[in-house]
Amino acid sequence: MMFSVEGKSIVITGGGGVLGRAMARALVNGGAEVALLGRTRSVLDEAVSEINRSDGKEVNKKINKNIRSGDAIAVRCNVLDESSCRTARETVIKQFGKVDALINAAGGASPEASTGTEQLQEGDLDSEVRTILDVPYDEFRKISDLNSLGTYLPMTIFLPDLINSKNGSIINISSMGADRPLTKSPAYSAGKAAVDNLTKWMAVYLAKTGVRVNAIAPGFFLTKQNRFLLTDKETGDISPRGRKILDNTPQGRFGSPEDLVSTVLWLLADASCFVTGIVVPVDGGFGAFGGV
Ligand SMILES: NC(=O)c1ccc[n+]([C@@H]2O[C@H](COP(=O)([O-])OP(=O)(O)OC[C@H]3O[C@@H](n4cnc5c(N)ncnc54)[C@H](O)[C@@H]3O)[C@@H](O)[C@H]2O)c1
Repeated sequence: MMFSVEGKSIVITGGGGVLGRAMARALVNGGAEVALLGRTRSVLDEAVSEINRSDGKEVNKKINKNIRSGDAIAVRCNVLDESSCRTARETVIKQFGKVDALINAAGGASPEASTGTEQLQEGDLDSEVRTILDVPYDEFRKISDLNSLGTYLPMTIFLPDLINSKNGSIINISSMGADRPLTKSPAYSAGKAAVDNLTKWMAVYLAKTGVRVNAIAPGFFLTKQNRFLLTDKETGDISPRGRKILDNTPQGRFGSPEDLVSTVLWLLADASCFVTGIVVPVDGGFGAFGGV
Protein backbone atom coordinates (compact mmCIF):
# COMPACT_ATOMS: atom_id res chain seq x y z
CA MET A 1 0.00 0.00 0.00
CA MET A 2 2.92 2.36 0.61
CA PHE A 3 3.58 2.41 -3.12
CA SER A 4 -0.08 2.55 -4.14
CA VAL A 5 -1.54 5.29 -6.33
CA GLU A 6 -4.97 3.68 -6.39
CA GLY A 7 -7.78 6.23 -6.22
CA LYS A 8 -5.50 9.22 -6.75
CA SER A 9 -6.44 11.89 -9.29
CA ILE A 10 -3.36 12.93 -11.21
CA VAL A 11 -2.71 15.64 -13.81
CA ILE A 12 0.13 15.20 -16.31
CA THR A 13 1.05 18.16 -18.52
CA GLY A 14 2.58 17.06 -21.83
CA GLY A 15 0.67 13.84 -21.18
CA GLY A 16 0.43 13.05 -24.89
CA GLY A 17 4.24 13.01 -25.22
CA VAL A 18 6.43 9.95 -25.04
CA LEU A 19 7.50 10.15 -21.39
CA GLY A 20 4.23 11.62 -20.05
CA ARG A 21 2.24 8.91 -21.80
CA ALA A 22 4.35 6.08 -20.32
CA MET A 23 3.82 7.57 -16.85
CA ALA A 24 0.08 7.93 -17.45
CA ARG A 25 -0.21 4.33 -18.61
CA ALA A 26 1.53 3.03 -15.47
CA LEU A 27 -0.57 5.22 -13.16
CA VAL A 28 -3.86 4.17 -14.77
CA ASN A 29 -2.77 0.56 -14.50
CA GLY A 30 -2.09 1.21 -10.82
CA GLY A 31 -5.65 2.43 -10.25
CA ALA A 32 -5.27 6.21 -10.60
CA GLU A 33 -7.43 8.49 -12.72
CA VAL A 34 -5.20 10.58 -14.92
CA ALA A 35 -5.86 13.78 -16.88
CA LEU A 36 -3.52 14.18 -19.85
CA LEU A 37 -3.03 17.89 -20.56
CA GLY A 38 -1.58 19.09 -23.86
CA ARG A 39 -2.09 21.39 -26.81
CA THR A 40 -3.22 19.02 -29.54
CA ARG A 41 -6.61 17.36 -29.14
CA SER A 42 -5.90 14.58 -31.66
CA VAL A 43 -2.63 13.58 -29.93
CA LEU A 44 -4.33 13.54 -26.52
CA ASP A 45 -7.32 11.54 -27.77
CA GLU A 46 -5.06 8.97 -29.36
CA ALA A 47 -3.02 8.67 -26.13
CA VAL A 48 -6.12 8.32 -23.98
CA SER A 49 -7.70 5.63 -26.12
CA GLU A 50 -4.39 3.71 -26.22
CA ILE A 51 -4.04 3.92 -22.41
CA ASN A 52 -7.66 3.03 -21.65
CA ARG A 53 -7.54 -0.12 -23.73
CA SER A 54 -3.99 -1.11 -22.68
CA ASP A 55 -3.35 -4.75 -21.86
CA GLY A 56 -1.84 -3.70 -18.55
CA LYS A 57 -5.30 -3.02 -17.15
CA GLU A 58 -6.38 -6.59 -17.83
CA VAL A 59 -3.06 -8.05 -16.64
CA ASN A 60 -3.35 -6.03 -13.43
CA LYS A 61 -6.83 -7.32 -12.73
CA LYS A 62 -5.58 -10.90 -13.10
CA ILE A 63 -2.59 -10.35 -10.78
CA ASN A 64 -4.57 -8.62 -8.06
CA LYS A 65 -8.34 -8.54 -8.31
CA ASN A 66 -8.42 -5.88 -5.60
CA ILE A 67 -6.64 -3.30 -7.75
CA ARG A 68 -9.16 -1.17 -9.54
CA SER A 69 -7.83 0.16 -12.84
CA GLY A 70 -8.22 3.88 -13.32
CA ASP A 71 -9.03 5.87 -16.39
CA ALA A 72 -7.38 8.53 -18.50
CA ILE A 73 -9.04 11.66 -19.88
CA ALA A 74 -7.79 14.24 -22.40
CA VAL A 75 -7.85 17.95 -21.55
CA ARG A 76 -6.59 20.66 -23.88
CA CYS A 77 -4.13 23.03 -22.25
CA ASN A 78 -1.31 25.34 -23.23
CA VAL A 79 0.95 25.45 -20.17
CA LEU A 80 2.18 28.93 -21.16
CA ASP A 81 -1.31 30.43 -21.14
CA GLU A 82 -2.83 31.24 -17.75
CA SER A 83 -6.46 31.22 -18.87
CA SER A 84 -5.96 27.95 -20.75
CA CYS A 85 -4.52 26.40 -17.55
CA ARG A 86 -7.45 27.71 -15.50
CA THR A 87 -9.97 26.27 -17.96
CA ALA A 88 -8.13 22.95 -17.91
CA ARG A 89 -8.25 22.92 -14.12
CA GLU A 90 -12.04 23.51 -14.17
CA THR A 91 -12.46 20.60 -16.58
CA VAL A 92 -10.37 18.27 -14.42
CA ILE A 93 -12.24 19.23 -11.25
CA LYS A 94 -15.57 18.74 -13.02
CA GLN A 95 -14.50 15.23 -14.09
CA PHE A 96 -12.52 14.02 -11.07
CA GLY A 97 -13.67 16.31 -8.25
CA LYS A 98 -10.10 16.62 -6.92
CA VAL A 99 -6.42 16.67 -7.84
CA ASP A 100 -3.91 14.77 -5.66
CA ALA A 101 -0.83 15.07 -7.82
CA LEU A 102 0.64 17.05 -10.69
CA ILE A 103 3.39 15.89 -13.03
CA ASN A 104 4.89 18.65 -15.18
CA ALA A 105 6.14 16.81 -18.24
CA ALA A 106 5.42 19.47 -20.88
CA GLY A 107 8.76 20.76 -22.06
CA GLY A 108 11.38 20.36 -24.71
CA ALA A 109 14.06 21.80 -26.94
CA SER A 110 14.03 23.03 -30.55
CA PRO A 111 16.54 23.36 -33.39
CA GLU A 112 15.74 27.11 -33.62
CA ALA A 113 16.89 27.66 -30.02
CA SER A 114 20.06 25.57 -30.49
CA THR A 115 23.53 26.38 -31.80
CA GLY A 116 25.01 24.36 -34.65
CA THR A 117 28.25 23.50 -32.86
CA GLU A 118 29.38 22.74 -29.34
CA GLN A 119 32.03 25.47 -29.12
CA LEU A 120 32.60 28.76 -30.89
CA GLN A 121 35.68 28.60 -33.12
CA GLU A 122 37.63 31.49 -34.56
CA GLY A 123 35.92 32.81 -37.69
CA ASP A 124 32.54 31.17 -36.92
CA LEU A 125 30.78 34.51 -36.47
CA ASP A 126 31.59 35.37 -40.10
CA SER A 127 30.73 31.94 -41.49
CA GLU A 128 27.68 29.77 -42.23
CA VAL A 129 28.00 28.06 -38.84
CA ARG A 130 24.89 28.58 -36.65
CA THR A 131 26.25 30.43 -33.63
CA ILE A 132 24.59 31.81 -30.51
CA LEU A 133 24.06 35.08 -32.46
CA ASP A 134 21.81 33.16 -34.88
CA VAL A 135 19.50 32.04 -32.06
CA PRO A 136 16.71 34.63 -32.13
CA TYR A 137 15.82 36.06 -28.72
CA ASP A 138 12.20 34.99 -29.23
CA GLU A 139 13.27 31.38 -29.78
CA PHE A 140 15.43 31.49 -26.67
CA ARG A 141 12.49 32.86 -24.70
CA LYS A 142 10.07 30.31 -26.15
CA ILE A 143 12.11 27.30 -25.03
CA SER A 144 13.30 28.79 -21.76
CA ASP A 145 9.68 29.76 -20.90
CA LEU A 146 8.23 26.42 -21.98
CA ASN A 147 10.41 24.60 -19.48
CA SER A 148 10.38 27.11 -16.60
CA LEU A 149 7.16 29.15 -16.81
CA GLY A 150 5.37 26.10 -18.24
CA THR A 151 6.21 24.32 -14.97
CA TYR A 152 5.52 27.27 -12.68
CA LEU A 153 2.04 28.10 -14.03
CA PRO A 154 0.45 24.64 -13.52
CA MET A 155 2.07 24.41 -10.06
CA THR A 156 0.33 27.60 -8.96
CA ILE A 157 -2.99 26.96 -10.70
CA PHE A 158 -3.47 23.46 -9.25
CA LEU A 159 -2.07 24.46 -5.85
CA PRO A 160 -5.42 24.92 -4.01
CA ASP A 161 -6.46 21.41 -5.10
CA LEU A 162 -3.12 19.88 -4.11
CA ILE A 163 -3.40 21.48 -0.66
CA ASN A 164 -6.99 20.21 -0.31
CA SER A 165 -5.75 16.72 -1.08
CA LYS A 166 -3.84 16.73 2.28
CA ASN A 167 -0.91 14.79 0.84
CA GLY A 168 -0.46 16.37 -2.55
CA SER A 169 2.62 15.66 -4.62
CA ILE A 170 4.23 17.52 -7.52
CA ILE A 171 6.83 15.99 -9.82
CA ASN A 172 8.62 18.30 -12.22
CA ILE A 173 10.50 16.78 -15.13
CA SER A 174 13.97 18.28 -15.24
CA SER A 175 17.01 17.12 -17.24
CA MET A 176 20.68 16.25 -16.93
CA GLY A 177 21.19 19.65 -18.61
CA ALA A 178 19.95 21.51 -15.53
CA ASP A 179 23.06 20.90 -13.47
CA ARG A 180 25.64 20.63 -16.24
CA PRO A 181 24.42 22.59 -19.30
CA LEU A 182 24.07 20.60 -22.51
CA THR A 183 26.15 21.90 -25.39
CA LYS A 184 24.13 23.40 -28.28
CA SER A 185 21.05 23.85 -26.02
CA PRO A 186 21.42 27.09 -24.05
CA ALA A 187 17.70 27.90 -23.70
CA TYR A 188 16.75 24.33 -22.76
CA SER A 189 19.55 24.06 -20.19
CA ALA A 190 18.68 27.42 -18.64
CA GLY A 191 14.98 26.50 -18.54
CA LYS A 192 15.67 23.18 -16.83
CA ALA A 193 18.05 24.82 -14.33
CA ALA A 194 15.10 27.02 -13.39
CA VAL A 195 12.98 23.88 -12.95
CA ASP A 196 15.43 22.45 -10.38
CA ASN A 197 15.61 25.75 -8.55
CA LEU A 198 11.83 26.23 -8.52
CA THR A 199 11.34 22.65 -7.33
CA LYS A 200 13.46 23.32 -4.27
CA TRP A 201 11.92 26.75 -3.66
CA MET A 202 8.38 25.40 -3.84
CA ALA A 203 9.27 22.39 -1.66
CA VAL A 204 10.36 24.72 1.14
CA TYR A 205 7.48 27.12 0.61
CA LEU A 206 4.85 24.36 0.70
CA ALA A 207 6.40 22.06 3.29
CA LYS A 208 3.87 22.97 6.01
CA THR A 209 0.89 22.40 3.67
CA GLY A 210 1.52 18.70 3.13
CA VAL A 211 2.32 19.24 -0.56
CA ARG A 212 5.66 17.69 -1.54
CA VAL A 213 7.59 18.95 -4.57
CA ASN A 214 10.30 16.88 -6.24
CA ALA A 215 11.83 16.54 -9.68
CA ILE A 216 13.09 13.73 -11.86
CA ALA A 217 16.08 14.39 -14.11
CA PRO A 218 15.92 11.83 -16.92
CA GLY A 219 19.11 11.00 -18.74
CA PHE A 220 18.75 10.56 -22.50
CA PHE A 221 15.65 8.96 -23.93
CA LEU A 222 15.16 8.87 -27.69
CA THR A 223 11.94 10.88 -28.23
CA LYS A 224 10.44 13.39 -30.66
CA GLN A 225 12.00 16.44 -29.05
CA ASN A 226 15.62 15.26 -29.21
CA ARG A 227 15.60 12.93 -32.22
CA PHE A 228 17.02 15.78 -34.34
CA LEU A 229 20.07 15.87 -32.05
CA LEU A 230 20.61 12.16 -31.40
CA THR A 231 20.03 10.63 -34.83
CA ASP A 232 20.85 11.41 -38.46
CA LYS A 233 17.78 12.97 -40.15
CA GLU A 234 18.36 11.04 -43.41
CA THR A 235 19.46 7.60 -42.23
CA GLY A 236 18.10 7.39 -38.68
CA ASP A 237 21.54 6.18 -37.53
CA ILE A 238 22.92 7.36 -34.19
CA SER A 239 24.49 10.80 -34.72
CA PRO A 240 27.98 11.67 -33.44
CA ARG A 241 26.22 13.50 -30.56
CA GLY A 242 24.10 10.42 -29.82
CA ARG A 243 27.28 8.31 -29.82
CA LYS A 244 28.96 10.74 -27.43
CA ILE A 245 26.01 10.45 -25.05
CA LEU A 246 26.08 6.66 -25.15
CA ASP A 247 29.84 6.72 -24.51
CA ASN A 248 29.16 8.89 -21.44
CA THR A 249 26.30 6.75 -20.15
CA PRO A 250 27.89 3.92 -18.16
CA GLN A 251 24.95 1.59 -18.89
CA GLY A 252 25.64 2.20 -22.62
CA ARG A 253 22.05 2.73 -23.77
CA PHE A 254 19.34 5.35 -24.09
CA GLY A 255 16.60 5.17 -21.47
CA SER A 256 13.27 3.59 -22.24
CA PRO A 257 10.21 5.58 -21.03
CA GLU A 258 9.24 2.73 -18.67
CA ASP A 259 12.55 3.26 -16.80
CA LEU A 260 10.95 6.33 -15.19
CA VAL A 261 7.86 4.61 -13.88
CA SER A 262 9.12 3.22 -10.55
CA THR A 263 10.55 6.60 -9.52
CA VAL A 264 7.26 8.30 -10.43
CA LEU A 265 5.29 5.78 -8.35
CA TRP A 266 7.65 6.23 -5.40
CA LEU A 267 7.48 10.04 -5.48
CA LEU A 268 3.67 10.07 -5.73
CA ALA A 269 2.96 7.43 -3.10
CA ASP A 270 3.07 7.49 0.70
CA ALA A 271 6.40 5.63 0.55
CA SER A 272 8.14 8.99 -0.04
CA CYS A 273 6.14 10.99 2.56
CA PHE A 274 9.33 12.51 4.09
CA VAL A 275 10.93 13.27 0.72
CA THR A 276 10.60 16.79 -0.66
CA GLY A 277 12.85 19.19 -2.57
CA ILE A 278 15.03 16.60 -4.33
CA VAL A 279 15.94 15.97 -7.95
CA VAL A 280 16.26 12.25 -8.71
CA PRO A 281 18.48 11.34 -11.67
CA VAL A 282 17.24 8.41 -13.77
CA ASP A 283 20.11 8.38 -16.21
CA GLY A 284 21.99 5.09 -16.52
CA GLY A 285 24.89 6.64 -14.59
CA PHE A 286 25.42 9.67 -16.89
CA GLY A 287 25.59 12.14 -13.96
CA ALA A 288 28.09 10.04 -12.04
CA PHE A 289 30.53 9.56 -14.91
CA GLY A 290 33.53 11.86 -15.16
CA GLY A 291 34.23 10.90 -18.78
CA VAL A 292 37.44 8.89 -18.18
N1 LIG B 1 13.45 12.60 -23.99
C1 LIG B 1 14.49 12.82 -23.21
O1 LIG B 1 15.58 12.27 -23.37
C2 LIG B 1 14.35 13.77 -22.06
C3 LIG B 1 15.45 13.91 -21.21
C4 LIG B 1 15.35 14.77 -20.13
C5 LIG B 1 14.19 15.47 -19.92
N2 LIG B 1 13.14 15.32 -20.77
C6 LIG B 1 11.93 16.08 -20.47
O2 LIG B 1 10.85 15.21 -20.31
C7 LIG B 1 9.63 15.89 -20.64
C8 LIG B 1 8.84 15.04 -21.62
O3 LIG B 1 9.58 14.97 -22.84
P1 LIG B 1 9.36 13.84 -23.96
O4 LIG B 1 10.68 13.27 -24.21
O5 LIG B 1 8.23 12.95 -23.60
O6 LIG B 1 9.02 14.77 -25.19
P2 LIG B 1 7.70 14.87 -26.07
O7 LIG B 1 7.99 15.96 -27.05
O8 LIG B 1 7.29 13.55 -26.55
O9 LIG B 1 6.62 15.39 -24.98
C9 LIG B 1 6.51 16.72 -24.60
C10 LIG B 1 5.03 17.08 -24.65
O10 LIG B 1 4.87 18.42 -24.19
C11 LIG B 1 3.87 19.01 -25.01
N3 LIG B 1 3.97 20.47 -25.00
C12 LIG B 1 4.92 21.24 -25.58
N4 LIG B 1 4.62 22.54 -25.40
C13 LIG B 1 3.45 22.57 -24.69
C14 LIG B 1 2.64 23.63 -24.21
N5 LIG B 1 2.95 24.90 -24.40
N6 LIG B 1 1.54 23.30 -23.51
C15 LIG B 1 1.19 22.01 -23.30
N7 LIG B 1 1.92 20.97 -23.73
C16 LIG B 1 3.04 21.26 -24.43
C17 LIG B 1 4.16 18.47 -26.40
O11 LIG B 1 3.07 18.63 -27.26
C18 LIG B 1 4.47 17.01 -26.06
O12 LIG B 1 3.28 16.24 -26.07
C19 LIG B 1 10.05 17.25 -21.18
O13 LIG B 1 9.99 18.21 -20.15
C20 LIG B 1 11.49 17.03 -21.57
O14 LIG B 1 12.24 18.22 -21.57
C21 LIG B 1 13.19 14.48 -21.83
